[in-house]
Amino acid sequence: MAKLTILEFPDPRLRTVAKPVAHVDDALRTLIADMFETMYAAPGIGLAATQVDVHRQLLVLDISEDGSKPMVFVNPQILARDGEQVYQEGCLSVPGIHAEVQRANHIRVRAQDRDGAVFELDAEGLLAVCIQHEMDHLAGKLFVDYLSPLKREMVRKKLAKARKDAAAEKADPAAPARAGTA
Ligand code: NI
Repeated sequence: MAKLTILEFPDPRLRTVAKPVAHVDDALRTLIADMFETMYAAPGIGLAATQVDVHRQLLVLDISEDGSKPMVFVNPQILARDGEQVYQEGCLSVPGIHAEVQRANHIRVRAQDRDGAVFELDAEGLLAVCIQHEMDHLAGKLFVDYLSPLKREMVRKKLAKARKDAAAEKADPAAPARAGTA
């Protein structure tokens, strides 16, 4: 297994629309294993292939407390949705940022599993949020797209500054992690 690099906003590659997976084969299962390793290490509860620069319709997630319920969705489709919920979301591609997003409370999803078998699943609450969030990634969409343009620009600047500070810290390990932090 190998840990993969996660693309970060505003990387334009995150805007790529994923293509369907034609064959669920060993190469895909290797990618799935690498995506789980990457997601658990981050740590995160969901990861779309788009985030690791693979533009195929594949996502993995695990919303359990102890990382015991890995779920794989290949070529996911939402068949039905109803109700609404607002959840404070975060994203491994937008590190350190959280914001409320409104989504359907209940969804019915059809997808293929890691063996290519088709299944359908009813999801609600956090699981429904997570599936919708990851499916957005496959469509080239990020949760910050639901924010106002002004807020999204603030997020972009905050991340640019965090990256700059991290680079400066790497160059000079004795320097404080963030300017202005006493
Ligand atoms: Ni995300």
